[in-house]
Amino acid sequence: MRALDWEGGSDGAVAMVDQTALPGTLRVLSINAVDDMVAAIQRLSVRGAPAVGVAGAFGVVLATRAFGPSGPRLDDAIARLRRARPTAVNLARMVDRAAARIPEGFDAVLAEALAIRDEELAASVAMGVLGADLVLELVGPGPVRAMTICNTGGLASVERGTALAVIQTVHERGRLAEVLALETRPLLQGSRLTAWELARMGAPHRLLVDSAGPFMLARGQADVVLTGADRVAANGDTANKVGTFSLALGARHAGVPFIVVAPESTVDMTTPSGDSIEIEDRGAGEVVSVVGVATAPKGTNAVNPAFDITPAGLITALVTDQRVVRPDRHESLLPLPGAARDQPPAGRFTTNDIPAPTRRS
Ligand code: MRU
Repeated sequence: MRALDWEGGSDGAVAMVDQTALPGTLRVLSINAVDDMVAAIQRLSVRGAPAVGVAGAFGVVLATRAFGPSGPRLDDAIARLRRARPTAVNLARMVDRAAARIPEGFDAVLAEALAIRDEELAASVAMGVLGADLVLELVGPGPVRAMTICNTGGLASVERGTALAVIQTVHERGRLAEVLALETRPLLQGSRLTAWELARMGAPHRLLVDSAGPFMLARGQADVVLTGADRVAANGDTANKVGTFSLALGARHAGVPFIVVAPESTVDMTTPSGDSIEIEDRGAGEVVSVVGVATAPKGTNAVNPAFDITPAGLITALVTDQRVVRPDRHESLLPLPGAARDQPPAGRFTTNDIPAPTRRS
C-alpha cells in the first residue's frame, strides 16, 4: 500500500491514506483539487518530508489541470502549495520541479510528478540497504535494538520510508531484536503511525514517552538511534521532529550511534546551517489538548515548534540514497556531481557546533 499515488490518467486524482484517521481507521481520500491538497498537507493527512514533496508535485498537476498553463490563479495555487508547510525542503523543491514543466503542457507536469514519486520509491529501497549495512557494521554481530522518533515509514514517503526502511531491512535480514518507538508529542506520529507500521511488518516493538528516550539510552536499552530529517543543511545540521535533538544529546551521552536517514531530495546545500531553517510553529491548540480533550486550563498559552535542529556534531552518520557521510570522521557533506553550481561551499562537520547558550546579563 502506498501513502499516496496518482490514480487514473489525465482525468485522474490523488489517492491518499488519511493519516489523521490512523490507527483507528484506514481511510483513503481522493484529492481532485489543489485547495484540497493544500488543506491535506496542512492538517497532516499527508506528512513526512518525501511524502509532502510528492504531494506538492501532484498538487501542481491538479492546479495545471484546473487553471491552465498560466495566469494569476495558477500562480496563487502554486505559491500556496509551496508554503503549505515551511520546514521540509521537499515540498517547495518538488513543487518547483513540477511547475518548471508547465510550459510543456499538462502531460509533462504529470510525468514529472510520477518521476518524483518513482525516485522516492527507489530512494527508500537504497536507503534501507545502505542504512542496514551501516547499522550492522556499527552494532556488530548479534541482534539490533533500535530507537526511533516520529514516523519515517512508508506513510512518510511513498513506500518503506527512510529510517523505518532501514529498520525494516534489518528486520528482513533477521537481525532486529526490538524497536523502541517514541510516541512523538503532540500529534503522536510515533504511537499512531510508527507502531501501526511496525505491527504490519511484524517487527517487535515497544512504545515509550518522548522524555524516556534519553534515559533508556543511558540505561543501555538501545544499540542505535535512527531518525529521519525534514531538511539537511550544507554544514550537516538537520531539522527533524521536535524531540530529535534531545535524543541526539542522549545518544552522545550514552555513546550510542545516532544515524540520520534522508534521501538526497531532503539535502539542501543552499541552506548553510540549521540556524537558517524555518521551524514551523503549529500553534497552541495541539499542545493544550490531546485528541480533542483539553489537558491544560482554558486560556493557557503554549509554544509548539514542530521540529528542532540536531547539530551535525551530534550525528554519527547521514545515510542518503546515494551515500553515507560520517560527521564523526569529519567527513564533509559535499554537493553531489551535477548539483547546481551556485550552491554555497559545504561546511565541515565539527564536533562542537552547538551554539553557546545566550546568557542573561
Ligand atoms: O510533522 P511531520 O509528521 O510531517 O514530521 C515528520 C518528520 O519529522 C519525519 O521524521 C521527517 O519528515 C522524515 S520522514 C521520512
